[in-house]
Amino acid sequence: MLRPSLLERERKSGAIRHRSFRQSPKDQAGFAASASLAGRPHLQRLVLAVLDTEGPILGLWCRIPLSQQQALTMTEDKTTHFGYKQVPVGEKGGLVRSVFDSVASRYDLMNDLMSFGIHRLWKRYTVELAGVRGGQRVLDLAGGTGDLAARFAGIVGSEGEVVLTDINAAMLARGRDRLIDEGIAGNVHFAQVDAERQPFPTDHFDCVTIGFGLRNVTHKQRALEEMFRVLRPGGRALVLEFSHPTSKPLSKAYDLYSFTVLPILGRLVADDSTSYRYLAESIRMHPDQDTLRAMMEQVGFERCTYFNVTGGIVAIHRGYKL
Ligand SMILES: C[S@@+](CC[C@H](N)C(=O)[O-])C[C@H]1O[C@@H](n2cnc3c(N)ncnc32)[C@H](O)[C@@H]1O
Repeated sequence: MLRPSLLERERKSGAIRHRSFRQSPKDQAGFAASASLAGRPHLQRLVLAVLDTEGPILGLWCRIPLSQQQALTMTEDKTTHFGYKQVPVGEKGGLVRSVFDSVASRYDLMNDLMSFGIHRLWKRYTVELAGVRGGQRVLDLAGGTGDLAARFAGIVGSEGEVVLTDINAAMLARGRDRLIDEGIAGNVHFAQVDAERQPFPTDHFDCVTIGFGLRNVTHKQRALEEMFRVLRPGGRALVLEFSHPTSKPLSKAYDLYSFTVLPILGRLVADDSTSYRYLAESIRMHPDQDTLRAMMEQVGFERCTYFNVTGGIVAIHRGYKL
């Protein structure tokens, strides 16, 4: 596993170089690069300013030596789960990408329909638990269409900064367009980033969030390590994610709903029942509340706690870097 210190050393020695480029909208879906901004505040400002405009997403190419790329991609496990299926580890990212490519255009509508609008309350509560203040820096990973980022942008104000990131270009483009349409601009930046390989400096953000994203990530522990690394001491991470209902009757009703209603809704609204079956399966495969808390503790988070909402259908985990 790549240790942050190695990445830092590479950055300092200049082994990681940066090159900006524009992508055609067609290529964007296949682009899983990192926007590497570490230690280049001037470049960071330049690139993120362009990202703030409409049009193709501007990415940064981050050249990482081959040995390091292998360290980043190699794993001892040969397979992992994609919903209930076991798939080769190297294939999961592509499969997840096709799910979100397929649902991006109907994502917000489906969220409202599937949760009866309750996802808005879960997100509002997450933002409250984050305790972010004016002037702070927030990183939203797997931020998709920007629900959390939009709320944080209002709180941090013009002195603060929110970075909305997602690995998927289609989701990120929707988030960017939506925020611009809502007039949320100036303190929000956009970057296509894999939560497992974050290009940000160590000790940088006051708060890092990942909403309904962690269960899609191939190596969850690696993403948590990266979240810990980029937080400044005193900063906190919040993981908003589907979890495990705390009562049996609720669990049964929820299973029935997830495996019957959701795929039908997916077919009717998004013309895609398979992706919504994956949603139901991936939720069942996600670690339960206590396991996720232990995973956070393992990477160094302290004062880890979780808040069950809607009977544990969703849990919000919070941990501090102290
Ligand atoms: C269910 S959506 C959540 C979007 C948003 N956070 C929300 O709460 O509405 C999950 C998002 O995770 C993103 N994602 C999946 N794997 C990722 C990874 N390894 N790194 C960053 N984002 C990822 C997907 O592209 C998708 O946009």
